[in-house]
Amino acid sequence: MRENSVELFSKNWSIYQKIIAHNYMFHHDLGKITTTVWEDNFKNTSVNVLDLGCGDAYQLSTIMDGRQISSYTGIDLSSAVLEYTKQNLANINIPFSLLAGPMEMEIDKITNTYNLIYSSYAFHHLQDEEKLELLKKCYAKLDAGGVLILIDHFKEDGQDRDDYIDEYVDNIKTNWLHITSEENDLIEEHMRGYDFPTTEQQIIKWGEGIGFVLETVPHVDRCHKLLVLKKYTETN
Ligand SMILES: C[S@@+](CC[C@H](N)C(=O)[O-])C[C@H]1O[C@@H](n2cnc3c(N)ncnc32)[C@H](O)[C@@H]1O
Repeated sequence: MRENSVELFSKNWSIYQKIIAHNYMFHHDLGKITTTVWEDNFKNTSVNVLDLGCGDAYQLSTIMDGRQISSYTGIDLSSAVLEYTKQNLANINIPFSLLAGPMEMEIDKITNTYNLIYSSYAFHHLQDEEKLELLKKCYAKLDAGGVLILIDHFKEDGQDRDDYIDEYVDNIKTNWLHITSEENDLIEEHMRGYDFPTTEQQIIKWGEGIGFVLETVPHVDRCHKLLVLKKYTETN
């Protein structure tokens, strides 16, 4: 069941690359914000990066290229996709390690701590209780001054999951003009089976309850968002 959840990515990675290339999920805009957050927090700092649900790490590797990176650890459920990740990271010549498996469990095997934890469009694959537990684990793995950048698509407050997915799928059909109807069907099937988005407010409430402080960043879209959750001290 869990392996099926990544079939869209492992067998059809080209669809996701097309989505990125056409900026349908605002990767370009979110990348610019990520770069600004990086500059604001780590200008002269060498960064230990943990990337949860890293996929091929294409987007983040373009941001990491030329920056000071002490280490990069990527976790993804799909070992097939991690073959692309290796190539993208080798191209930017940084020290990296990759773990294949569920991020919510693999993270327990890591003994390092990080100043940046990044997760882009992966949290929505978890059930709500798993999202909360993973947020707690992220907090524990961050150094004081460390930042969690969480990119995802989010439901509206009070919106039902089926209504949200209906609306998302309608938007794809109307606006994602380079996606064929077969690709559309694959995306829809994947979303209906494996996407469990929560609300932005819920993530913030959980995060603040754990001790994170929400930093303000620009919004790019009503449902595709980047949240910056910062850990200020070891004890807060
Ligand atoms: C939409 S892709 C995002 C890839 C990349 N982070 C990006 O933003 O371009 C979602 C990724 O999350 C991975 N994934 C889904 N559920 C996961 C889980 N429980 N643990 C680890 N990875 C997971 C999938 O294999 C896929 O590579």
